[in-house]
Amino acid sequence: MQRRAFVAGAVAALETRTRPVRLGIVGTGNRGTSLLGMALRAPGVQVRALCDINQANLERAQARVVKAGQPNPAGYSGSPDAYKRLMEHKDLDAVLIATPWHWHAPMAIWAMRAGKYAGVEVPAALTVEECWQLLEVHEKTQVPCMMMENWSFRRDNLAVLNMIRAGLLGTTVHCHCAHSHDCRGQWFFDKQGNIRWGGEYLVKRNADQYPTHSLGPVLSWMDINRGDAFDTMVSIASSSRGINDYFRRKFGPDHPNARREYKQGDVVTSIVRTKQGKTIVINYDMQLPRPYDNRWMIQGTRGIYREQPGTVYIEGRTVKDHEWEPFEPYQMEFDHAWWKPAETGQAGSDSLAGGHGGADDLEVRLFLAAARDKTPTPLDLYDSLTMSAVIGVSEASIAQGGAPLPFPDFTRGKWQTNRPYFAL
Ligand SMILES: NC(=O)c1ccc[n+]([C@@H]2O[C@H](COP(=O)([O-])OP(=O)(O)OC[C@H]3O[C@@H](n4cnc5c(N)ncnc54)[C@H](O)[C@@H]3O)[C@@H](O)[C@H]2O)c1
Repeated sequence: MQRRAFVAGAVAALETRTRPVRLGIVGTGNRGTSLLGMALRAPGVQVRALCDINQANLERAQARVVKAGQPNPAGYSGSPDAYKRLMEHKDLDAVLIATPWHWHAPMAIWAMRAGKYAGVEVPAALTVEECWQLLEVHEKTQVPCMMMENWSFRRDNLAVLNMIRAGLLGTTVHCHCAHSHDCRGQWFFDKQGNIRWGGEYLVKRNADQYPTHSLGPVLSWMDINRGDAFDTMVSIASSSRGINDYFRRKFGPDHPNARREYKQGDVVTSIVRTKQGKTIVINYDMQLPRPYDNRWMIQGTRGIYREQPGTVYIEGRTVKDHEWEPFEPYQMEFDHAWWKPAETGQAGSDSLAGGHGGADDLEVRLFLAAARDKTPTPLDLYDSLTMSAVIGVSEASIAQGGAPLPFPDFTRGKWQTNRPYFAL
């Protein structure tokens, strides 16, 4: 496949090509509805089938498709296994999966077995065993499966990737990343204080439960699975105090969630050492009060980038010795081709107006273009699994008092010869 030719015009491609891509979506809750909106915004996408066990969510999504001028898509509901019937639908090229976490791996496996491109929301799997199961089916069926890790497609992260590839940071050595996102009152619990499915995991697990947004850009920045690979990881968790304190203050000390015991520590810190001796610090930080941030920082033999506050220092290029300079001019100079309309070559595509600054639209359009053209997905399953496996490995390391544990190599040694592929 000619990956470069494909990606350069990818954002505009759906507009210029005539053959449509036929899509099904499983899970039409919050995220599934956003993904549906992105699909309907992208020309050339036909939403043919939807599935949700919640009839009201399903019907709302179907109505949205009709309102967008498309025929009413087939609806599947009635049982937790209804998704299997959607996967068997003959006229689908791809399926997006946006259900609660424990459904991701089984549903993606079913999609691959049915020959449909699988775009599975984050994380792709909850355990290392599930990761291997996904890989086995993928390698057997040869059907592409991609975790929809949108932060890999962010404009700033892609510009940093271009800077690294241009050699500005020299050889990368150390990186920091985090998912610092206060989800107490919106995802783990609802506004009335009822526990949601996301919160149930905090009761029963102590792990980095959401590592993929932090790691999304890091894998390509550090050539993980492409010349380097995760070797060992240690994880430690703080005690769990934030949720009890939140409920005591907001709903009173007798609220059941104020008294409940949560296994999940408030902040988890994992440190990865790679085969080439690089280090990566990953933080889970989702249950204390704080503004959102990802705390990306990457450091090499010649320079350093910090997402917050948006600064760089490049030895020999930054004018003032040992002083930060703004990232903004670098963003302009190293802007990625994905963010430039193919026709004009100018930065800033108006069509990428959706979630997370346009990164989500870009990701969805690239995934759907791959499904239509039967080309590889922009993110492969090996990277998707490496990000997801942090959950299981961190849980085991925490349980063993922060023991260094070997990290699974899903490439089975091919990382040594694999060449970079992402966003070339
Ligand atoms: N990439 C991102 O930025 C991002 C943002 C938000 C959520 N997410 C991911 O999206 C997923 C969904 O999150 P959400 O906030 O939309 O949750 P949600 O609870 O709002 O929606 C989940 C939907 O799945 C349906 N569902 C549950 N079991 C099902 C089954 N067996 N078959 C069919 N439908 C089923 C539910 O009825 C619900 O409508 C999660 O995995 C989450 O991690 C990703």
